[in-house]
Amino acid sequence: MTSSPDDRPAISNLAREERRFPPSPEFVAQANVTEEIYGRAEADPVAFWEEQAQRLIWAQPWTEALDWSDAPFARWFVGGTLNVAYNCLDRHVEAGLGDRVAFYFEGEPGDTQVITYRELTEAVCQAANALTEIGVKSGDRVAIYMPVIPETIIAMLACARLGAPHTVVFGGFSSEALRTRIIDCDAHVVITADGGYRKGSASALKPAVDEALTECPEVHTVLVVRRTGQEVEWTEGRDRWWHEIVPAQPTTHTPEAFDSEHPLYVMYTSGTTGKPKGILHTTGGYLTGCAFTQWAVFDLKPETDVYWTAADIGWVTGHSYIVYGPLANATTSVIYEGTPDTPHQGRWWEIVDKYKVSILYCAPTAIRMFMKWGEAIPAKFNLSSLRVLGSVGEPINPEAYIWYRKHIGHDRTPIVDTWWQTETGAHMISLLPGITSGKPGAAMRALPGISVDVVDDLGNSVPNGGGGYLVVTKPWPAMLRTIWGDPERYKETYWSRFPGAYFAGDGAKRDEEGDLWLLGRVDDVMNISGHRLSTTEIESALVSNPKVAEAAVVGASDPLTGQAVVAFVILRSEAGDGGEHCVRELREHVAREIGKIAQPRQIMIVSELPKTRSGKIMRRLLQDVAEHRPTGDVTTLADTSVMETIQAGLAKGMTED
Ligand code: PRX
Repeated sequence: MTSSPDDRPAISNLAREERRFPPSPEFVAQANVTEEIYGRAEADPVAFWEEQAQRLIWAQPWTEALDWSDAPFARWFVGGTLNVAYNCLDRHVEAGLGDRVAFYFEGEPGDTQVITYRELTEAVCQAANALTEIGVKSGDRVAIYMPVIPETIIAMLACARLGAPHTVVFGGFSSEALRTRIIDCDAHVVITADGGYRKGSASALKPAVDEALTECPEVHTVLVVRRTGQEVEWTEGRDRWWHEIVPAQPTTHTPEAFDSEHPLYVMYTSGTTGKPKGILHTTGGYLTGCAFTQWAVFDLKPETDVYWTAADIGWVTGHSYIVYGPLANATTSVIYEGTPDTPHQGRWWEIVDKYKVSILYCAPTAIRMFMKWGEAIPAKFNLSSLRVLGSVGEPINPEAYIWYRKHIGHDRTPIVDTWWQTETGAHMISLLPGITSGKPGAAMRALPGISVDVVDDLGNSVPNGGGGYLVVTKPWPAMLRTIWGDPERYKETYWSRFPGAYFAGDGAKRDEEGDLWLLGRVDDVMNISGHRLSTTEIESALVSNPKVAEAAVVGASDPLTGQAVVAFVILRSEAGDGGEHCVRELREHVAREIGKIAQPRQIMIVSELPKTRSGKIMRRLLQDVAEHRPTGDVTTLADTSVMETIQAGLAKGMTED
């Protein structure tokens, strides 16, 4: 049977809704949670979260669980005080778990470290003492720009211990991106490394810091971890080696208890404008959300599980599910510095086999890459320790879900497809592996204590079988509190589209059984390999090049990365008519401005862009071109011939990279 591109999705939808993967009776028998949890949480969500907050040790108990009187600015566990680092470290040592492994670190070149809770606690105390010596105090912001190495986690926890909010900037971001983040949150201290190992060689980080700091006069200290041993430029009086100051410090440090709403960190994420948003997470509610979800969603057994979130610490997934959730639960985790194919394409499976990893959490892009490399590679390793598999960051297509389950999970492991965001802090929608029968491609239902809805344009809830916008209808403890320095933008971005509800920016469908399927972003945000990028941000980067007059960017679907960046560019007349070297220059320009992850897969040089009469670029039509589809309705264009001009120009001599 042949099918036109238009009817293909319908056929695959049908096929996927027929499949169900119920948990095995053995899994159900040992599961952490049972069905009753949903009813209990729904009956009184705030009381439910109070119960979850008991997972932590509070120096002062709260007097009010939730203050929503100044909505959408929430305060959770009002009046309560606690220290995040104490909750992630010292209390486990005090409870007799000092010898439990906190992290098995696997460096890309094959170097390893085993770090117990006692050792990690001592290292964090030393780092906190060192930061104090440098002058870091409660409330000061510290920027962290590091590879995935233990010192990154130590630095974050040392900041948390001091009540100094950190802002971790993903090591793949450019010096320009680092600079804007340092300035936006006004950090005066930066922690970095000479470099890290990626794809078999040392990849420098310090030069990007040096470049960024030429325009950040407020930064007085850069603490540098020696990881690769590569040459670094040194600014006397500003730069200090980590190994010269941290290990010499005392291994004890008295943690101060901070208010439940004390800022814990700022994480920048792309929005629909060119300027990234600093998402603020605070202390008590955030840690409660991370601790509960990591325990419930992964069915965590901290005494026996070996847990691995294969993500970079520089993203929210790394914050919530490498650092804060796992450590709050006294988990034993694996961290891996490098890329999945270094030195061979079986590296991940070798790590699973070596450490007997039982819970693995990663992005669909990685799974699709492994599918491409072939099932013979994981088949060479013993993966029988795995008992729960997780997926995060983008919708998982049913094919990848089934492959993951079959070739990695050997048809035994439940798959938890977790929907959440930098803003939500912790998982929001996921199946619970001992309760729910999984449907490939569906994130299923809101977690206990979380209320979501799918609404139409007017904010009305859609019936089963309908699609619309995903909203969260009640405050939750791990929610963002504001956008750093811009409370108006916080209200406007998340709470104005549907009054009284948090608008996530995602489309969703509720199937006939009421289960949720995520349909991707409905705004100008793209999702590349599970990483969020804004079209406007890349457009701004392109037009900052003197050759470019105008630029429009779209996310086109991509079989490997989910979406890929495709740019349409109008050159200034003095730039000539483009050509391969010009396209190359523009791609490099974007990498310099934002980072390699933002580089367009394709740059098309065009003479015009499709615009409405009010001047808005119609990205939908460009997306049709980028995905080689016939273009949709052009009647709202100011000039309906533009699409023909673009198509004709591209057909004649498209400049593509
Ligand atoms: O579009 C959704 C998608 O990723 C966005 C959040 O991106 P970010 O803040 O970078 O956080 C990524 C890690 C949590 C969401 O708005 N997304 C995330 N998880 C899923 C997803 N889309 C579908 N299914 C998921 N499981």
